[in-house]
Amino acid sequence: MMKRRMICLSILLIAATAGSALAQNAGVSSGYPTPKNGFSPAEQRGHGLYLRYCVLCHGVFGDGNGDNAPFLDPRPRDFTAATFKCRSTPTGTLPLDSDLIGTLVRGVQATNMPSWRPLTDENRQDLVAYIKTFSERWKTEKPGDAIKIPPETPVSIESIRRGHELFQKMECWKCHGQQGRGDGPSASTLTDSKDQPIRPYNFAMARNDSRFKCGSENQDLYRIFMTGVDGTPMPSFADVMQPNDAWDLVHYLRTLQTERRSKENEVLKAAGGAATLKSSENKSENNSAADSNGKTHSGGH
Ligand code: HEC
Ligand code: HEC
Repeated sequence: MMKRRMICLSILLIAATAGSALAQNAGVSSGYPTPKNGFSPAEQRGHGLYLRYCVLCHGVFGDGNGDNAPFLDPRPRDFTAATFKCRSTPTGTLPLDSDLIGTLVRGVQATNMPSWRPLTDENRQDLVAYIKTFSERWKTEKPGDAIKIPPETPVSIESIRRGHELFQKMECWKCHGQQGRGDGPSASTLTDSKDQPIRPYNFAMARNDSRFKCGSENQDLYRIFMTGVDGTPMPSFADVMQPNDAWDLVHYLRTLQTERRSKENEVLKAAGGAATLKSSENKSENNSAADSNGKTHSGGH
């Protein structure tokens, strides 16, 4: 219902954008300030596409303050900050072009950012070239190196159990809640880098076709918490989690999506369901109590 309304709104907005682009193409001047150093051909083409498809949300100055922005939650991205949610690169670094292009193809799930799959690959490359002109960071910094993702480890009840322990230890539950419903004790207090309230992702709401903002596969899930969602309170865990432990966490997170068909849910069900994890929840609580008594916090295992 909610999703349908959002899609309708997006279509309306696109239609409106296309209309205003026609008007703009009719005249010579777009009203856009002439850039200092001139645009490359790709940036020039991207500029035209941007005025047609993006400007009503992301704004003439790329600052996320287009005419539609006040009505949208979350707000459109401010490209002048060059902070992006969906990256293969470490937290704080610029994304690769391929990350931005991936976002344009997918759109941003559960927001007003539409998918631009109908455009051509060249269109998307030109748009990316153009939105990079909004921030000097693209001139002074290089994108980060994509994080390495080792091959997925087998899904087993042991892996899910270890993932459950990591979910406790890394305190994912503080924001996402013990059942992953996005209702942990900190959830209602969170704001993004623009001081807008933001809710943690609700895993329990997922259905078979559900996607995350930054992808839909197990690999994407791995990448999301290892690189963080920049500009939001969702941290990166790359510095505190070993690569294979991260796969255990992926396997556990999939079981929080209780209504979604998955290997992980089959394995958990065969082992007796979520109740079998609860017993280890108590155990890990006892362990961590012993830990804090003994003040022994070792990083590794
Ligand atoms: C209907 C409004 C709307 C239109 C039109 C729109 N966007 Fe967006 N865009 C958004 C919103 C809202 C977000 C923020 C989503 C979020 O923060 O979760 C966003 C986010 C983005 C992001 C950031 C993704 C990230 O990883 O952080 C990029 C890049 C982007 N848009 C590019 C574009 C381009 C290029 C166009 C035109 C082809 C476009 N958008 C058109 C609303 C729109
Ligand atoms: C301080 C609060 C906080 C903590 C701790 C936290 N998250 Fe998040 N998480 C968020 C918020 C807020 C979002 C929503 C970001 C958005 O919608 O742009 C989010 C989003 C996500 C997403 C979905 C991103 C997408 O692409 O849609 C995943 C997956 C996720 N978190 C996993 C985890 C895991 C795993 C942990 C623990 C290792 C964790 N989070 C810890 C706040 C938190």
